[in-house]
Amino acid sequence: MHQERNIYVCPETKKRLRCVPGETRGQEEVISGRLLGEDGREYPIRDGIPDLTFPRVLAGEQKETLGYYEGVADVYDDVAHLSFRIQYVDEVEARRGFVRLLGLQPHSRVLELACGTGRDSKIIAGELGATGQLYLQDISPAMLLQSRRKLSGVAVPVEFVVGNACFLPFPDRYFDAVFSFGGLGVFGDIAKSLKEVVRVSKVGAKVVAGDESMPPWLYETEYGKVLLNNNPLFKKAIPFEQIPVEAREVVVRWVVGGVYYLIEFVVGEGEPKADFDLEIPGKRGGTLRTRYYGGLEGVTPEAKQLAQRAREASGKSMHRWLDDVVREAAKRELNSPRGGDEKGDHDGE
Ligand SMILES: C[S@@+](CC[C@H](N)C(=O)[O-])C[C@H]1O[C@@H](n2cnc3c(N)ncnc32)[C@H](O)[C@@H]1O
Repeated sequence: MHQERNIYVCPETKKRLRCVPGETRGQEEVISGRLLGEDGREYPIRDGIPDLTFPRVLAGEQKETLGYYEGVADVYDDVAHLSFRIQYVDEVEARRGFVRLLGLQPHSRVLELACGTGRDSKIIAGELGATGQLYLQDISPAMLLQSRRKLSGVAVPVEFVVGNACFLPFPDRYFDAVFSFGGLGVFGDIAKSLKEVVRVSKVGAKVVAGDESMPPWLYETEYGKVLLNNNPLFKKAIPFEQIPVEAREVVVRWVVGGVYYLIEFVVGEGEPKADFDLEIPGKRGGTLRTRYYGGLEGVTPEAKQLAQRAREASGKSMHRWLDDVVREAAKRELNSPRGGDEKGDHDGE
């Protein structure tokens, strides 16, 4: 870990962490040591890689996932290409296509979550120059070590970090692009992870994330049955409901022969905006805001009929007529001798 690239925050509190080096190489590279919070929380740096996993002790599915990938890290690259070959898809070409969607510049700051052994990381690094930054994160130290081997000699400065995709150790609004392929389905809480992705992304940043999911209309085909028999993860649904509200220009597509999905979006601020005050012409009138917020208690069918006739005679929209009538009646009531006295009219609302 290079001290000058210590941008880390506590994955739980999101407060800045200070590097306390132990063994170092040269001036900047920390081989072992600690990342320390003001509140005393600390995270170890081992073999040049900080471990910012939170919770510190994983449980349930996450613990199992970690154990699995720690066990297969050495052989992962021997088999990873098979999912593509089975679909008659060239893996490198496909992965290049995913990375291209990020629209990277040589100076981009990029985060890859669940980078595994670095099969996409190498392609991402190839798009970046010495002025860029690449942070590679995975929950499995063994997988991360494989990616470090693969990325030696690239031009872009690369930092490796062990961590949980649901509790990211990066500051708010830091990255120009975030990428993740093949891990989402086992993160434990996809919504939380994507929310974290939005937090650490600049407004306008590009996010591309994908994982296994077969379209349901293929479940009962021979194609579907044979593939599902081998990999039940294909039955996972595309996490539409977990996409954050800040996502703009969202594109969702199936890739790799149609058994993986890719969600692509630009990070916006808060909810999308719309003009709720645009006057809507016509008999009903009003605006989206008056229609949503302006409902009162309702009237009897006779009163409604009378109101409709009166509105027609007035030439106003129903919204304008009602608003005028209610406003005048309310003012009159408030100015009367018992104005503002609400006592007589309570019905236990
Ligand atoms: C199928 S591999 C994909 C690796 C790589 N992205 C690729 O396409 O080859 C899934 C990766 O997700 C990582 N992973 C699983 N749960 C994670 C989590 N909660 N946070 C970060 N990484 C996680 C695993 O350690 C593993 O490296």
